Amino acid sequence: MSVDFCPPPPSLTLKNEQLAWSDRIEGLLDRAFGPGRFVKVSERVREIAEFAPELSFCAFDGETLVGVVRMWRVKAGGETVVFLGPLAVDPDQQSAGVGGLLVEKACAAAKAAGEAWVVLVGDAPYFQRFGFTAADAAAIRLPGPVDQTRVQALKLRADAAPLAGPMSRA
Ligand SMILES: CC(C)(COP(=O)(O)OP(=O)(O)OC[C@H]1O[C@@H](n2cnc3c(N)ncnc32)[C@H](O)[C@@H]1OP(=O)(O)O)[C@@H](O)C(=O)NCCC(=O)NCCS
Repeated sequence: MSVDFCPPPPSLTLKNEQLAWSDRIEGLLDRAFGPGRFVKVSERVREIAEFAPELSFCAFDGETLVGVVRMWRVKAGGETVVFLGPLAVDPDQQSAGVGGLLVEKACAAAKAAGEAWVVLVGDAPYFQRFGFTAADAAAIRLPGPVDQTRVQALKLRADAAPLAGPMSRA
């Protein structure tokens, strides 16, 4: 994983998500996604997934929350995978590399934890720079309608079994 982006603010810090930040995170997600955020198929996945705070990160510019990435454990076929999302950066802070740093940090944490795969639903032109491919996720069945080309997977372990089948509780 290597990303070519503008340098983020020098005062940027990434911290594991804490419960006390929930209201600020919800506000940021509302600003970044708008009112449609709860009808996404990713929300149906999160309803059957287990939140992984140790793999989830918030980006702060000084004391200001500027980005968030959340990670969850869920099954895809017989395999436990980490599901990435939501990923959001404050609209005033986008295109400065914060999103890229958050994706890299969360995927590195998942790899260090011994996880085999990270899966997400998102725009391929953004996520392919981190190594995500639709091909590795083509046989996963999500719990709702989805454009399958938006389902992406990143292999973290060389011995990871191929992903195939419906998503279910981890
Ligand atoms: C997607 C998002 C998290 C990226 O965060 P960011 O901090 O702006 O991203 P980075 O600075 O790491 O990367 C910026 C680059 O990615 C590109 N990019 C951003 N969103 C993109 C998308 N959906 N598809 C393709 N490219 C995208 C930008 O154009 C920019 O390209 P450039 O460097 O050539 O100008 C942010 O735009 C956001 O919060 N969007 C709204 C919520 C959302 O759509 N989240 C993703 C859900 S899957």
